[in-house]
Amino acid sequence: MAKGLDVGTMNIISGRQDDSDTVFVQQRNSFVEIEYSDMAEQMLSRSDVLHIRKDDKVYVVGDDALNFANIFKEETRRPMQQGILSNDEKSAIPMIKLIIEQVAGEPDYSGETIHFSTPADPIDSDLSTLYHQKTCESFLSDMGYDPEPINEGMAVIYSELADNNFTGLGVSFGAGMTNVCLAYYAVPVMTFSIARGGDWIDEQAAQATGKPVDKVTSIKEDDFELDFRTDVGGVEGALAIYYENLLDYVIENVAREVDEEDVEEGLDVPVVVTGGTASPSGFEELFEDHLKEATLPFSVSGVTRADDPLYSVARGALVAARSEEDDAPERSEPVSRSSSGEDEEEEEAAAAEEN
Ligand SMILES: Nc1ncnc2c1ncn2[C@@H]1O[C@H](COP(=O)(O)OP(=O)(O)OP(=O)(O)O)[C@@H](O)[C@H]1O
Ligand SMILES: [Mg+2]
Repeated sequence: MAKGLDVGTMNIISGRQDDSDTVFVQQRNSFVEIEYSDMAEQMLSRSDVLHIRKDDKVYVVGDDALNFANIFKEETRRPMQQGILSNDEKSAIPMIKLIIEQVAGEPDYSGETIHFSTPADPIDSDLSTLYHQKTCESFLSDMGYDPEPINEGMAVIYSELADNNFTGLGVSFGAGMTNVCLAYYAVPVMTFSIARGGDWIDEQAAQATGKPVDKVTSIKEDDFELDFRTDVGGVEGALAIYYENLLDYVIENVAREVDEEDVEEGLDVPVVVTGGTASPSGFEELFEDHLKEATLPFSVSGVTRADDPLYSVARGALVAARSEEDDAPERSEPVSRSSSGEDEEEEEAAAAEEN
């Protein structure tokens, strides 16, 4: 077995193959700090909520963080920002480590291959992704995996463009970033990221309308459509404006970057968009319309959206891991596991299948 792991600013998702099904396990990449109390202790010990106790603080981590934040009137915090480990969150490392451990689970055998997504360095900020990548790599090796980073845009190509000889333009619109990859027969010709994504849209729309960011995010995630017909002056109108602005910004950078690379002229390139931010209806049509207006050295044969925008990076990382595993000569012996560990894994798999 081999695994794929998508380490995202908002969601951490693993994928593994179980006969003909791909099984995903996911957690929100967030946490909340609450004061230690007997009530907290009781609530947590009776549940399977992911948490860490440190001195007189308890940290609830992952999907349950938001519920606990509401109950205890606290804010959730995030280990990552703009696609990489946050440098102004001092608790980032232990929190993301716990989430990665829970989502990836123990390796089936020592040295099991796991490919984990990592963003390309952004072209519009001086953030470097190296520290983030090396830190994730060390968590996974400490767990007994043989980790291998895979560029997030390339993972999209692996996941969505197998039928087109892994040739095309893949764009992952996430929370903290947008990752772009142009590949030609599975060879990346151009990869870059932009330090803007869904979070940027939410912040801009919140600022424009004077609404709290959380409120804007929930309006956006709840049936928002990019039809440009409604709500001038409201939150949905502001969201549409910043969505369009993000798409234009991405296209402008694709045109500029592709111009600098030695890309063969006259190719007919399929484009796939994915990531949570690509979810609203009308997204791929809007992207296609704006892409047509850009000056590019290739023609675009069409824009499609991945069927499961939240899962395609994990799926692509899994495809890459499995293809490497097929090429590997031998693997070592299984790691012995406790039966409770297996039960947990079965429960997780069942939960992921329900989603
Ligand atoms: N139905 C929806 N409509 C609009 N936006 C959505 C929807 N569902 C999720 N999102 C947005 O998608 C983003 C999360 O997407 P995703 O999980 O692909 O990001 P990520 O991989 O965690 O982040 P990154 O790749 O930037 O590190 C968030 O901004 C979230 O608000
Ligand atoms: Mg992502």
